[in-house]
Amino acid sequence: SAVCSHLGCIANWRQEEGIIACPCHGSKFARTGEVLAGPAPRPLQRLLMELSEGGELVVDKGTGVGEEQSLKV
Ligand code: FES
Repeated sequence: SAVCSHLGCIANWRQEEGIIACPCHGSKFARTGEVLAGPAPRPLQRLLMELSEGGELVVDKGTGVGEEQSLKV
């Protein structure tokens, strides 16, 4: 999820730095969602993703998953 774990702003991918950054209070996250710099108190939430029969990537924003779950595309 791009929703920052601090106060809920939408974080953005910064290609040039290879990180996800929140514009509101400066939290930084690794591409895996782990916190690199606060004030975010915890990682970004990992969400369930599936590939539809038509080949579209479907994100279930209501279902969190653990680090052990991944989707190969
Ligand atoms: Fe993201 Fe505060 S909401 S750092």
